[in-house]
Amino acid sequence: MKTKKIQFSLNDKNVSVEVDVRESLLDVLRQKFHLTGTKKGCGVGECGACTVIMNGETVDTCIFLATWADGKVIHTIEGQTIDGQLSAVQQAMLDEGAVQCGFCTPGFVMSITSMLESGKEYTREEIKKELSGNMCRCTGYQNIVKAAEKVLQSGILP
Ligand code: FES
Ligand code: FES
Repeated sequence: MKTKKIQFSLNDKNVSVEVDVRESLLDVLRQKFHLTGTKKGCGVGECGACTVIMNGETVDTCIFLATWADGKVIHTIEGQTIDGQLSAVQQAMLDEGAVQCGFCTPGFVMSITSMLESGKEYTREEIKKELSGNMCRCTGYQNIVKAAEKVLQSGILP
């Protein structure tokens, strides 16, 4: 097994870890950092349950090698709630009843947060397009899109 030591910023803390060069970032986050809010759905880049924000962009961590994260700035769902205070996106998801089984929810929160951080304005159709990489098997899309619209119109940063 070939390993490599990598360093990155994880939820605003500098961390370093020895990884198998074949390991996905998802497995490293879940198994080595115990950040299990980032979910493993499909494992092949289709469902978005494993989404994190890396250097301002969303990344499917199941198909992203951990070694590629070296030197990057990563935010996961765990970094969204500060001192028990939900982020604006999390609160909007709750307010709109956009959470059902919740397995897809962390990925949606990270994708909507990335849109909010971009500072762009989004139409309903653009929101749907941006969220097309996130799947909800409970088919709760309508409320999720409503939550995204609400928070994006508010312009409140997470
Ligand atoms: S688990 Fe990564 S996209 Fe589905
Ligand atoms: S809330 Fe269950 S998969 Fe989306």
